[in-house]
Amino acid sequence: SQIRYYNWTIVDKDGNPDGVFKPMMTIDGQFPGPLIEVNEGDTIVVDVLNLATNATSIHWHGIFQNGTNFMDGTSGVTQCPIAPGYSFRYNFTLTGQAGTYFYHGHQGVQSLDGLVGPLVIHDRDAANNLPLRYESDRVVLLQDWYYDPGSGLLRDSLSPGNEAAPVPNAALINGLNQVDCSLHPGRRCVRDGTALPVLNLNPGANHRLRFANVGGFAWFQVSVDEHSSLPIVEVDGTTIEPAAESVIILSPGQRYSVILTANQATQNNYWLRARMIKACFGEPNMPEDGVDEAKAIVQYSAPSKLLGSQSDTSGLPTTNDTNINYIKTCKDMTSRSTYRPTPPQPAPEYADHSWYLRINLAIGDWRLQRGVINQSSFRPNLQEPTLHRFLDGFASSNFSFNGEGINTAAFAPSELVISNKGVETVDVILQNMDEGSHPFHLHGTQMWILGAGHGYFPGYKALGLKPQGMGLLDPNNSTVIDNPLKRDTATAEGFGWVLLRFVADNPGVWLFHCHMIWHSEAGMAMQFASRLEDMKSWALPEENRRLCGADREELYKGAPPS
Ligand code: C2O
Ligand code: CU
Repeated sequence: SQIRYYNWTIVDKDGNPDGVFKPMMTIDGQFPGPLIEVNEGDTIVVDVLNLATNATSIHWHGIFQNGTNFMDGTSGVTQCPIAPGYSFRYNFTLTGQAGTYFYHGHQGVQSLDGLVGPLVIHDRDAANNLPLRYESDRVVLLQDWYYDPGSGLLRDSLSPGNEAAPVPNAALINGLNQVDCSLHPGRRCVRDGTALPVLNLNPGANHRLRFANVGGFAWFQVSVDEHSSLPIVEVDGTTIEPAAESVIILSPGQRYSVILTANQATQNNYWLRARMIKACFGEPNMPEDGVDEAKAIVQYSAPSKLLGSQSDTSGLPTTNDTNINYIKTCKDMTSRSTYRPTPPQPAPEYADHSWYLRINLAIGDWRLQRGVINQSSFRPNLQEPTLHRFLDGFASSNFSFNGEGINTAAFAPSELVISNKGVETVDVILQNMDEGSHPFHLHGTQMWILGAGHGYFPGYKALGLKPQGMGLLDPNNSTVIDNPLKRDTATAEGFGWVLLRFVADNPGVWLFHCHMIWHSEAGMAMQFASRLEDMKSWALPEENRRLCGADREELYKGAPPS
């Protein structure tokens, strides 16, 4: 294994990825951020210097951070933000996981302004662990795109009287798109220099496309014209039995790898389409005007570079999407099984705790003045992050933490901390009281998806959970899955539920939140504290403590207004 070193400076920059200019927040002026491509077992060291206007932190989405909770990059939970002018070194080792991940700013809605990039971990034993061979390997980042700066949208969206979530202006693939500037008369727009992404694929061969929805709010459906079989082989870092699909659906935060076989004969160029699913916005009346789709060109030709682009409009594909069903509901693709009859870590048969969490947006359907989990609307404490308070509390004598359960005097009700004693198996029943879906992401580990459905959670028995073993009903076709999927971002559909199980064996404080960014920033978030006994021997790194020395106003720059 190796140490991979990166030196990043966060800078503000006006950019026009699709033609329209907006103020962006970038790593060294690059957008998307640089690809981190490593092998399992490697160590990543990233020196981050923040020269932007806002405070920030970088979260490594889906990375376990086993034993390195300090490096999770969650403002108000594991660290103070990196205030303007401050720097911080992220340093962690990638053990026990491979697959497709990404990183993003975790203060306010900075990922919407461009602070996001891909992270790929190659499996050390790919030959044995992957069910299909492939010749080339590509990252395909999908994201919604807002022309107005995120912090302003965030302030507006949380202000009384303005209760609907902002709807994206456009979509990007790998940070690219091309719009017609005449459709945006009120905005500064230059089309020259913009381009469409091109994937050069050797004809006849298999290619791995790693789709990641790194956007803030929109769900995507992805398809490739005239390629109706897109076998999924990876879901959020978990290798699965290849499952052929014609359309891939991703909530914000989710990743799917598919193997595309370049075996069509009609043309050399095909459209890859990434369409934002309007039904998931809660804006059923949003006009059908075409801005919701981003396209890339799948080109049969010897690969020239990993990620090409094409700016002139000659030679564009003429293929069409007549075979695609447009998706109207926002649910996960859950009917999947982990690859190999014996998964590395089978799901425990019983849980030690089962938490019933009702989630909703506070003001009626589709409104987001506040996001709520069991009466609690999360507000990060950016001067005293949760992890710091635990460690400082253990070090002081008057800390009245009893080791298990919900909150203590040390935490505000708005922080909702659920803690476990020792290594416990935890079930979470997410009961969604809203009309819209909520895709929940758990930091620090993956969760088995034991079931999901519409209406109220029917109870374990009714679900067909056997007394022994992990049999459960697939909501889509009522068959029993013996080997449930493990992932890090899972959805409770509108007026529905999802049953999640995880082993709380990773010491630290882990945020659990809706990954639709207007919902999480409105407070639909909470924390799990795991293995507190093991944290008692930890010392808070000086590097972490130093960040908290910045002025309060500096730390809160870019954070949601309270
Ligand atoms: Cu990608 Cu806390 O999230
Ligand atoms: Cu949500």
